[in-house]
Amino acid sequence: MAAGLAEFVVIANRLPVDRYIAHDGAVTWRTSPGGLVTALEPVMRRKGGAWIGWHGAPDEKLKPFEHDGLRLVPVPLSAQEVEEYYEGFSNGTLWPLYHDVIAPPEFHREWWDSYVDVNHRFAACAARVAKRGATVWVQDYQLQLVPSLLRGLRPDLRIGFFLHIPFPPRELFTQLPWRRQILEGLLGADLVGFQLPGAAQNFVRLVRERVGHKTHRDLIYLPEGRTVVARAFPISIDVNAFEQLARSENVTARCKEIRESLGNPKHVLLSIDRLDYTKGLRQRLRAFGELIRDGSIDVDDAVFVQVATPSRERVDQYRILRDDIDRLVGRLNGDVGRIGQQPITYLHASYPREEMAALYRAADVMVVTPLRDGMNLVAKEYVACRYDDAGALVLSEFAGAAAELRQAYRVNPYDINGMKAALMEAMGAEPREQARRMKTMRKTVIENDIDHWATAFLDELNFERPSHDKKMRPARGRS
Ligand code: F6P
Repeated sequence: MAAGLAEFVVIANRLPVDRYIAHDGAVTWRTSPGGLVTALEPVMRRKGGAWIGWHGAPDEKLKPFEHDGLRLVPVPLSAQEVEEYYEGFSNGTLWPLYHDVIAPPEFHREWWDSYVDVNHRFAACAARVAKRGATVWVQDYQLQLVPSLLRGLRPDLRIGFFLHIPFPPRELFTQLPWRRQILEGLLGADLVGFQLPGAAQNFVRLVRERVGHKTHRDLIYLPEGRTVVARAFPISIDVNAFEQLARSENVTARCKEIRESLGNPKHVLLSIDRLDYTKGLRQRLRAFGELIRDGSIDVDDAVFVQVATPSRERVDQYRILRDDIDRLVGRLNGDVGRIGQQPITYLHASYPREEMAALYRAADVMVVTPLRDGMNLVAKEYVACRYDDAGALVLSEFAGAAAELRQAYRVNPYDINGMKAALMEAMGAEPREQARRMKTMRKTVIENDIDHWATAFLDELNFERPSHDKKMRPARGRS
C-alpha cells in the first residue's frame, strides 16, 4: 500500500486555506471564509488524514502539500468552472433554493453540466487518495453528486455526507430540474447528515416520493440491499479553543481597546456575518436605526458594530446586497448620527480569530438574525467566549442554532417591531438574568462541541448494518 494513501479523507469545495497572491507577487495562505472550515479544521487536526478541496484561485494546478500540519490535496477549477459550478449552480441555484428562495434561484443547463463535471473531478481525486476501506466524508451542497460517483469508482469505501445548510421542503426542492439526480447522488453515501431533524425528514420523504425507495423513519432501503441512514447532527465549534483565546491577555487587552475606541458606550451591539442576503443585515440595521430615531435609545449610549466578511463578490445578488448595505448604513448614520458619534460602525472585512474573540468579549448584545441559516456558528462562538457569563444573545428562530440555544432572546427577523422589542429587552436585562441565560447556553455548547459532533457522525457512519432483504420491492417513484 502506498504510504501516501489516507485512511480518513474529507472532501469540501474549499481547502481550509485560500491561496492569495499579494501585489508584490508574494504567495500567502489565508483561512477560507465560512463556518465549515471553523468546524472541520480542529477535527482534521485531531484525526489526521487528507483534506481535498479547491484552493480559491482559478486556472492553477497545485500539487498536494502540507500546511500548518494539515495534509491538503488541491482540486483545480478553471475560470469557467468557477463561474458555472461555483458562482452559478452552487451559489446562484442551490444556495437560494435551499434558503427559502429568499433570492430567486436561477436554473441554467450549462451550470448544471459544469456541476456534474466538477463533482466527477472531486470524486476521482478522492478515489486516488483514499486507502482501501477508508472513510470518506463529503461536505456540503457543492458536492452532492460525489457520494454516488465515488461509490461507483470505489465500492470498498465507507462514505458519509454532511449538509451544512438547510435542506428545503419538497415544495421548493421539486422546482429543481435535476432533483432526482441530486437525491440519487446523495444516496451513494451510507450516512447523510443534516443540521436539523426536519431537514432529514424532508430528504427521506423526497426519496420515498421521487425515487421510490422504501423508507422507515430515518432509514432508506436501497434495492441492492444497502441501507442509507438520514439523520440530524447539529454542528458545533471547538468550544475550549475559543474560550482559551477569549481568556488570553492579548484578547483581554484588545477588548478594552475596542470599547475605548467606540467611546465606551453603555451598550455595544455586534453582528458578524458573511455578507450574504440570507443573514438579515438589512432588517436588523433598520430595527436598530428606528430605535435611535424614535428615541428608545440615545445615540450616545449605543453603538452597533456590523462586521460583514466579503463573500461571493462576483455573484449578482451579492453585489446588489453590498450596494444596499453601503447605502443603508450611510443613510442611517447620516440621519441619526452626530459629530463624533456614528451609531453604526460598519466593517467590510474579515478578521483573524483573535480579533473576533475580542469583539465577542466587547459586545454586550450579540445580534444573530439570519432569515434562514443551517446552523450559524457565530452564535456558538459568542457563547463559548463569554466565560464571564455576561452578554446577551439575540437569535433568529430561523437559525439552526435556535434549537439548542433556547435561552437566547428569540426573534423573527421579518418582524421589525418584534426585533426592536427583543433588542431593548436584551439591552435592559439585569446582569443576573443575563448570567442565568448565558450559563445554561454555555453548558449546552460545552457538552455539544465539535468533538461530540464528529464522534457522533463517524460512529454512526462506521456502524455495520446488515444487508436488508434484497427481494424487498421498491415503491414506484416519479422523477
Ligand atoms: O456552509 C456554507 C458554506 O457555503 C460552506 O460550504 C463554505 O465553506 C462557506 O459557506 C463559505 O462560502 P464560500 O466558500 O462560497 O465562500
